[in-house]
Amino acid sequence: MEAIVYTSNTGTTKEYAKLLGKKLSLPVYSIDEAKGKVEFGSKIIYLGWIMASGIKGYKKALKDYDIRAIGAVGMGKTGTQEREVRTKNSIPALTPVFTLQGGFDIKKLHGIYKLMMKIMVKIAGKGLSNKQDRTEEEDQMLDMMLNGGKYVSEKNLESFLDWYERGEE
Ligand SMILES: Cc1cc2nc3c(=O)[nH]c(=O)nc-3n(C[C@H](O)[C@H](O)[C@H](O)COP(=O)(O)O)c2cc1C
Repeated sequence: MEAIVYTSNTGTTKEYAKLLGKKLSLPVYSIDEAKGKVEFGSKIIYLGWIMASGIKGYKKALKDYDIRAIGAVGMGKTGTQEREVRTKNSIPALTPVFTLQGGFDIKKLHGIYKLMMKIMVKIAGKGLSNKQDRTEEEDQMLDMMLNGGKYVSEKNLESFLDWYERGEE
């Protein structure tokens, strides 16, 4: 594996990329930095943030690199929404996808992203607030929407690290 390449907007994907880079002793670059530094066709791990189930920058990275595994960072709990993400981004069955819980902070968003999330918080937040029997996960999601929150942790990378140690890349 040559490098970890990432796309991040509010910083949580960057944090995961750095954590993973440290653990796997691999260089870490944003997709723009990677341009001059990571050779075309190199084996990489790609990390991008989730927007409406799409993985930001994935299509672009796929043109230039041999993506051996994907980290998709979103608001949802680590390990959830893998199927939607896989389908939406047409990820080949043999490419492992690890969904990782990042966070949410409306204050860090600008422009269209801020607007989209304001609407989402209004609609989904209202729905969750009115729900009587919220699960623990839904409680966490509601809290994140209303107050912001960050859930980046090394523990969330366990499955990713296990995969790498198995040497199947
Ligand atoms: C416009 C928009 C759409 C989003 N859609 C999703 C989504 O479909 N699923 C999800 O889990 N998180 C979604 N998120 C949350 C982000 O993926 C989450 O905040 C992530 O941690 C951002 O990564 P970053 O800090 O690297 O930018 C969305 C965020 C924005 C701004």
